[in-house]
Amino acid sequence: MVDAREVIRELQDMREEGHLSDALLRYAVKSLDGADARFNWVGVYLLNDEGLELWLHNYVGSPTEHAKIPVGQGVCGTAVAHGANQNVPDVSEFEGYLSCSSDVQSELVVLIRAGTEIYGQFDIDSHQPAAFNNQDEVAVQMIADKLAEQIAHERR
Ligand code: SME
Repeated sequence: MVDAREVIRELQDMREEGHLSDALLRYAVKSLDGADARFNWVGVYLLNDEGLELWLHNYVGSPTEHAKIPVGQGVCGTAVAHGANQNVPDVSEFEGYLSCSSDVQSELVVLIRAGTEIYGQFDIDSHQPAAFNNQDEVAVQMIADKLAEQIAHERR
């Protein structure tokens, strides 16, 4: 289980040292990846300026062909289109699922957002079925909210 408070403390320290969202996003992905054996692939996608595509920012795990995902497609694009996190217990049941690896069984997407403005998302894949619970979603959301603070600050 990820210690969201500890990650947030570190992210705040980084902000105070002057690090920008690019570094914070990379730190958060590495922290999540190392935090839990259920998290087999962890990445961040950011919404492009036109708000039509998600672009892969950084990840830890097997290489993926999904460097760009149109809004509305796959689990990732669906999260943006619906403005809602996606916890998919069985990816084979998800219509339009975009597969990265046949080992992946479940997926959690948590939006990085400030109110109605969506900046991007964390995408976490697991080789276990139904790997993600509500506590995972809450913890990842806390980290996502901290990152949104910095992204909003940079875009002001
Ligand atoms: N499975 C995702 C695509 C991204 S990969 O998991 C890295 C989807 O369906 O949107």
